[in-house]
Amino acid sequence: MGAMTQLMYGPHAVDPPVVLAPMAGITNAPFRTLCREFARGRGLFVSEMITSRALVERNDKTMRLIHFDAGEKPRSLQLYGVDPGTVGRAVRMIADEDLADHIDLNFGCPVPKVTRRGGGSALPYKRPLLRAILREAVAGAGALPVTVKMRKGIDDDHLTYLDAGRIAVEEGVAAIALHGRTAAQHYGGQADWSAVARLKEAVPEIPVLGNGDIWSADDAVRMMRETGCDGVVVGRGCLGRPWLFGDLVAAFDGRGAEGYARPTLGEVAEVMVRHATLLGEWLGDEARGVIDFRKHVAWYTKGFSVGSDLRGRLAVAASLAELSELLGTLDLTQRWPAGADGPRGRTSGRNRVSLPDGWLADPWSAVAVGADAESETSGG
Ligand SMILES: Cc1cc2nc3c(=O)[nH]c(=O)nc-3n(C[C@H](O)[C@H](O)[C@H](O)COP(=O)(O)O)c2cc1C
Repeated sequence: MGAMTQLMYGPHAVDPPVVLAPMAGITNAPFRTLCREFARGRGLFVSEMITSRALVERNDKTMRLIHFDAGEKPRSLQLYGVDPGTVGRAVRMIADEDLADHIDLNFGCPVPKVTRRGGGSALPYKRPLLRAILREAVAGAGALPVTVKMRKGIDDDHLTYLDAGRIAVEEGVAAIALHGRTAAQHYGGQADWSAVARLKEAVPEIPVLGNGDIWSADDAVRMMRETGCDGVVVGRGCLGRPWLFGDLVAAFDGRGAEGYARPTLGEVAEVMVRHATLLGEWLGDEARGVIDFRKHVAWYTKGFSVGSDLRGRLAVAASLAELSELLGTLDLTQRWPAGADGPRGRTSGRNRVSLPDGWLADPWSAVAVGADAESETSGG
């Protein structure tokens, strides 16, 4: 990759400059561990989103979600919040109780239930509110680096990322990741990488990471080259494909295509069973692990000749033995199919963003968002 400055999140070097995107329901400790193993411990792997109110209330499920495996260093936690006071308390709790080493703040969620209450990708539109949240977070975090993840804005007429980037720099944020879509785009169309380049120019003081539509290690290298960004954040590309992190390490080490994994179906099946096993250990119940794993089946088997009948049975397997047995009936010698490359996961668009009444009237008003804006935690 030529001369590249080392990407730093505060005191933590991120090498190669590759980050697993936070994904609700996906990037729990088992999945992060799988990705990290393929990456041989390199890069950075962010937790699924944790709601700051649930954290300060020590909600049972949330306390399990903030679990990190022993090998995770630095421990990277994503927080979602809408209220400066609550975010500040959550961040202080993380710092005081040594619950993580890095905190990422989610301002990218486009889910209607969230934006309708002014949270996620709707929030940066209210510049003073964004500033207040970042100020509380950075103050509460002490020595822990705080990063921000955001979208371009609400829609093309209400872009927020350049103002948000400036505010983030002024408030002492350690790095910014930009998903090159607006909330209105949801996951449709193509991510606008030129916005990443513009943000990089606008905030030269801190690292900017590009996010959106990185489906291969070559895409990641190209994103860096085309935008001048300091690192990349990879989401859907690794769904059912955690070895993509091995490819990314290979690419950034200059080992190129020959270093990339092209697993056979047999090798994929081994990873599937391991993933389901880790989920069961994490949940403390084998069957629950296999059930939670069901959502990953279609991603892992994408492009392979599996047959819709067996794909259906795999998707309702209820024990590790059943999962292994079903996988054993497949032709496991199948090579990695071309159809498995390219987009996977959510790809649909949306046209209208649900917002609180009057939200767009004044970007500079210091509104408070109702506490119930945190009652939904579906990520995105
Ligand atoms: C299933 C799913 C869950 C997600 N959950 C979160 C989340 O909790 N926090 C967040 O900031 N982004 C979340 N995202 C957005 C991703 O982090 C990422 O920004 C987006 O998918 C674009 O990157 P990609 O094209 O590499 O997938 C989620 C995306 C998906 C597909």
